[in-house]
Amino acid sequence: MWTHTRVTEKLNIKLPIVQGPFGGGPSSIALAAAVSNAGGLGSFGAYSLSPDQIKQLARDLRAQTSHAFAINLWVPYSPVHETRITETEYRSAVARLQSYYDEVGAVAPSYDSLFRAQDYDAQVAALLEAAPPAFSFVFGIPRPDILRACRERNIVTLGAATNVDEAVALDKAGVDIIIATGSEAGGHRVSFLHDPDESPANTALTPQVADLVRAPIVVAGGIADGRSIVAALALGASGVQVGTAFLACDESNATQAHKDAIRSERARHTALTRAFSGRYARGIKNRFMLDMQTQQQALPAFPYQNFLTQSMRQGAAKAGRADLQSLWAGQNAPLVKHARAADLIKFLVDDTNRVFAQLKTLID
Ligand SMILES: Cc1cc2nc3c(=O)[nH]c(=O)nc-3n(C[C@H](O)[C@H](O)[C@H](O)COP(=O)(O)O)c2cc1C
Repeated sequence: MWTHTRVTEKLNIKLPIVQGPFGGGPSSIALAAAVSNAGGLGSFGAYSLSPDQIKQLARDLRAQTSHAFAINLWVPYSPVHETRITETEYRSAVARLQSYYDEVGAVAPSYDSLFRAQDYDAQVAALLEAAPPAFSFVFGIPRPDILRACRERNIVTLGAATNVDEAVALDKAGVDIIIATGSEAGGHRVSFLHDPDESPANTALTPQVADLVRAPIVVAGGIADGRSIVAALALGASGVQVGTAFLACDESNATQAHKDAIRSERARHTALTRAFSGRYARGIKNRFMLDMQTQQQALPAFPYQNFLTQSMRQGAAKAGRADLQSLWAGQNAPLVKHARAADLIKFLVDDTNRVFAQLKTLID
């Protein structure tokens, strides 16, 4: 049966379906717990949480589900990738955004407040103390001592790769499950060894990764129904990670304007942008993305651009405006139709069975 795989065995879950984590706000305990209780792996994006919040998160998730769940962090890049913003750069970045702040009644953050990113080592220490059933991560590979500590605590590790070299590096490091993340995926392009725009789509990425790694593979990007699940399994995966379709569910903490955009005709038009956070991410095209299109290279790096646009995004969200907030979504967003996480999971299982049955008629 397709539902029993190396991934379900490693994670001790019933279905090889992972709910993608959403960092920076859209994750919710209700969504992660609903997915875990329905047999998948619920996840919570915790990169912006403090160590104490991470410990509390693990307690809250354990109170809502007795099944496995994942807490997700972002591995920091080396300083070579992202240099500290200067005061002059800060002033020109604020000038670029001033009219948008004004539109939604927001104020620019102070220069000093741009240096308040969470301390990754402290986040990891809190995560190890909380010992969630699974730890998923993006943008790199945790140090060997962290991966060792996870093994000692029976925390299953899941690391994302957007190209073959990243998958091989994760495998060599001993990461338990590799999330092959194709270019279809919504949200940040989580590359760490090569340029984000080199990342292939799943039909190219997954079989090449499957030929080279020992760890089981979960495919992320564009998974929205039985057709894409069957395709992922055929390409060599032992599971799938679904982002956008869960993000649009009632239980997620995404804004209503964001959920509405995913369900609208606009969802057919996604693109990669640095406009909101300073790192490339896939979202539904909106006015702010288009306005920043010609200035992509001039924008400050993550996390500075992320902090600089935060009050604008929050102001837009409060006003129910979709034009000045990030509308992260994958290329299969137009296929999204379910409103409850449990209904979505039931559909994914039933539809996968339907597609397998249909394919069987082709060989009988
Ligand atoms: C709003 C949003 C936020 C995301 N944040 C994270 C994150 O913090 N960590 C992570 O590993 N993946 C993150 N992702 C990626 C998803 O977990 C998942 O891999 C991706 O959405 C799968 O592609 P799909 O959207 O086509 O289903 C995010 C995706 C979205 C849409």
